[in-house]
Amino acid sequence: MTDAIFSAEGLSLSFGGVHAVRDVSFDVAPGEVFTIIGPNGAGKTTVLNLISRLYDIEAGGRMLFDGDDISRIPISEVARRGIARTFQNTELFEHETVLKNLLIGRHVHRRTNLFSELLFTPAVRAQEIRFRQMAEDVIDLLDLQRYRSEIIANLPYGVRKMVEVARALCVEPKLLLLDEPSSGLNPEETEDVEFWLEDVNKDYGATIIMVEHDMQLVSRVSNRVMAMADGGVLAIGDYAEIQAHPDVLSAYLGD
Ligand SMILES: Nc1ncnc2c1ncn2[C@@H]1O[C@H](COP(=O)(O)OP(=O)(O)OP(=O)(O)O)[C@@H](O)[C@H]1O
Ligand SMILES: [Mg+2]
Repeated sequence: MTDAIFSAEGLSLSFGGVHAVRDVSFDVAPGEVFTIIGPNGAGKTTVLNLISRLYDIEAGGRMLFDGDDISRIPISEVARRGIARTFQNTELFEHETVLKNLLIGRHVHRRTNLFSELLFTPAVRAQEIRFRQMAEDVIDLLDLQRYRSEIIANLPYGVRKMVEVARALCVEPKLLLLDEPSSGLNPEETEDVEFWLEDVNKDYGATIIMVEHDMQLVSRVSNRVMAMADGGVLAIGDYAEIQAHPDVLSAYLGD
């Protein structure tokens, strides 16, 4: 795919003797919702971990994003390039408010230096106002107004998951990585995921790579689906193709 915004080429990673990810290649088009499915332990989260640079890919593989080779960029550079993620288990500052968590997420885009921040110059003040406006816009987009001043630890699980998405959006990502956005949610909340995913994808314009288990959600939001098992790619295609693919069926039935 020549116009891909993201390409994975031959990604591999082993832990000891376990091939968590083996020779995984795929392309994602700008604006696409690309969903990774597969049984437990298939390597789905590890793919997201490789893209977000938590681990180094093994020699021979590479990742391209927005025209650049990002295979070896420092982890601190990932958000600045426009890649943000959420985790399978939410990771937020538990004793801070929703708004504070969003402002912390936003600080990767700081342009001012420490000295000017200490002096609280007009540039710093202008930047702070922009950050707050950005956070408020994301709060509106994801309908979190009534929680903005609540402490994370006091919020129900479904809301915390939303706050994590909001925090990721505050870095203005071009590429958003979501690890099981519906896990732990009730059916009503899972339906809501479908709506905010569409807002984030269409209105906000983020390309999405998502790991997801809920097949109804997958079928409704995905442009394409990649099925994995045992670290490898079984098939890539639209939902109907993947659902009917013999290798995918046998991976799930465990023959
Ligand atoms: N940090 C690690 N150290 C050792 N082994 C790991 C590590 N991370 C993942 N693995 C192993 O790699 C394999 C793939 O794990 P991964 O978390 O990517 O699977 P997954 O597809 O996300 O599964 P799940 O659906 O359960 O979330 C598993 O065998 C797992 O035990
Ligand atoms: Mg996982």
